[in-house]
Amino acid sequence: MAPTVYGPRMELRDILRRRRMHRAFLPDPIPREQIERIAGVIRRAPSGGFSQGGSIVVVTDDDVKRELIERFEMTGTYADDAPVLMVISANEALYHARYNEADKLAVTGGVEVTWPVPYWFVDAGALMTLVLLVTIDEGLAGAFIGHPDQKRICDEVLGLPEDVVPIGLAFIGMPGTAPEIGSRLKSRQRPAEDLIHWQRW
Ligand SMILES: Cc1cc2nc3c(=O)[nH]c(=O)nc-3n(C[C@H](O)[C@H](O)[C@H](O)COP(=O)(O)O)c2cc1C
Repeated sequence: MAPTVYGPRMELRDILRRRRMHRAFLPDPIPREQIERIAGVIRRAPSGGFSQGGSIVVVTDDDVKRELIERFEMTGTYADDAPVLMVISANEALYHARYNEADKLAVTGGVEVTWPVPYWFVDAGALMTLVLLVTIDEGLAGAFIGHPDQKRICDEVLGLPEDVVPIGLAFIGMPGTAPEIGSRLKSRQRPAEDLIHWQRW
């Protein structure tokens, strides 16, 4: 099957229709401006208290890519062909710092708010989604994976600071030929009424 040719600058609804983990890439390099536009979406990402704890490490250097892919145990897969890797991370410390600023403490009576879920990871996930959507808007394809040991791997390969915790690794490039369904198996897709509840659960 011929690779899907994505037209750049699409309507959001078209981008959403194409949204999937595309596990096949052409090795062609991606122009720097395009990589910058994709990573630059971080400036549009929401974050709790505008803490801005998300970050991206862009990796295009062949040797670093190879090492990262090997340590993520992805050598010999579609990962080898992806010209651009992006490690997306969260930084919890920036949230504690932000929620200890005067304007936030004034609202809570002087104590740092305790969120019921770790918003730094919520925000990093939102950033990951934006990266994948903008990738499609650029006429490219993307996929995202995790590895149980990714903090240690990224510390060692990329020199991440202690507070910076990767949520995973995005692959970006021109789309290669990938199975149409990928991991989104129709048979495993939960019906909308199991997922969306109206008025109450
Ligand atoms: C947080 C997160 C981690 C994921 N980790 C992996 C992974 O390690 N390997 C993999 O092949 N896919 C991974 N995926 C992709 C999912 O399998 C995929 O999103 C899901 O099956 C739905 O398919 P689709 O995204 O193509 O629609 C991950 C997705 C998310 C959101």
